[in-house]
Amino acid sequence: MAKKLIRNASILTMNDRYDVVEGDVLIDGNRIAAIGPDLPAGGVDRVIDAGGKVLLPGFVQTHIHLCQTLFRGRADDLALIDWLRKRIWPLEAAHSEDSVYYSALLGIGELIRSGTTTILDMETVHHTESAFQAIASSGLRAISGKVMMDHGTEVPPPLQENTQKSLQESVDLLEKWNGAANGRIQYAFCPRFVVSCTEELLVGVRDLSAQYGVRVHTHASENRDEIALVEAERGMRNVVYLDHIGLAKPNLILAHSIWLDDDEKRIIKERGVKVTHCPGSNLKLASGIAEVPDLLDRGIPVGIGADGAPCNNNLDMYQEMRLTAFIQKVQHGPTVMDARTVLRMATMGGAEVLGLEREIGSVEVGKLADLQLLDLEDFHVYPSYDADLFSRVVYAATRGDVDTVLIDGEVVMSGKRVLTIDRTHVLKEADRSLKKLLARIG
Ligand code: GUN
Ligand code: FE
Repeated sequence: MAKKLIRNASILTMNDRYDVVEGDVLIDGNRIAAIGPDLPAGGVDRVIDAGGKVLLPGFVQTHIHLCQTLFRGRADDLALIDWLRKRIWPLEAAHSEDSVYYSALLGIGELIRSGTTTILDMETVHHTESAFQAIASSGLRAISGKVMMDHGTEVPPPLQENTQKSLQESVDLLEKWNGAANGRIQYAFCPRFVVSCTEELLVGVRDLSAQYGVRVHTHASENRDEIALVEAERGMRNVVYLDHIGLAKPNLILAHSIWLDDDEKRIIKERGVKVTHCPGSNLKLASGIAEVPDLLDRGIPVGIGADGAPCNNNLDMYQEMRLTAFIQKVQHGPTVMDARTVLRMATMGGAEVLGLEREIGSVEVGKLADLQLLDLEDFHVYPSYDADLFSRVVYAATRGDVDTVLIDGEVVMSGKRVLTIDRTHVLKEADRSLKKLLARIG
């Protein structure tokens, strides 16, 4: 197994003590084998001189839609339900194998370029294998699944699923892809949100996810019209309903969770449900502001995700960290959501949401080598003298500062260039594929 030595870095370990270590990281195969000053280079296949750059864990984004990257800028200035019915669903309905593939590669290129190494991803109804192929070849780590939707109004026919077929197709994908690409790919059941799902589908997901031991990812309580639709149909508040049908369990990961009452927060905590915060999307769709400090105070694991490109319009964790901090400070005062807390959410917090806290999220011996090197030799992140590194990274650094990215011990970006994706080709093919997709809509 190949050994790599990253030399001469300022290491933000993101361990329990928030230790910062000046020194080296030894990688053996896909795992971190040693951390410390002046590690011996004997038997090492490749030495990467960090030249004083900051080494930190790759970001873990716990809510992404790779299939929507192609729709960046095509659904601006709308609220959730119109955004879905008038724009996103017709666009997703027109997807082909080709367009899902280039949408995914475009998104993955942006994610790796900005330091993200793991995502929890929700695809569309069809062509999910194209996304898995893009994930496999790019080197990204991802938990993903086809979206499931067998219910709702104004759903274009190609997205209207038969309940049993939706469950069967999910199982078929799971059996083929769960654990693929050296374990970098895992499958998750992804019922879109209660508005799009019959109870039969959700109960099927509950049972199959338990049978296969995989996660369930859905949107919940993002928007007030959404929760009104759920209450009118199911006679309960959204999260109360999810608990009522037995879905509220430790393998459930909810995106957004803005409009929760006290009872729902108690359910989430007691059942071990996890939450993803999506500040950019929540602001742009005018959905609201999640009560993140309260959720964290209750001990609920909360990660961060950019959501899809058409509701953000970027997939950049540096922007999401900034928003995560700032939108709470303006409401709750300047001391909440300090740089350490936010960086933890972007790394270890995300790992906890995914149940991967023993594998990723920090730079510690035994963990998978999912790392980023940040070059902070630039005007906008100086001075460095006596500076707090957490402050520099969270409040001042930007995605353009990411220089090198490793995932699963492999260098996937170096010298600010993504190595696993041909950018020129993907930009060109993304435009070509989108043009064809739009022609299919007419
Ligand atoms: N709720 C149901 N589907 C979606 C989606 O695609 N994006 C967002 N942000 N919320 C949703
Ligand atoms: Fe989403």
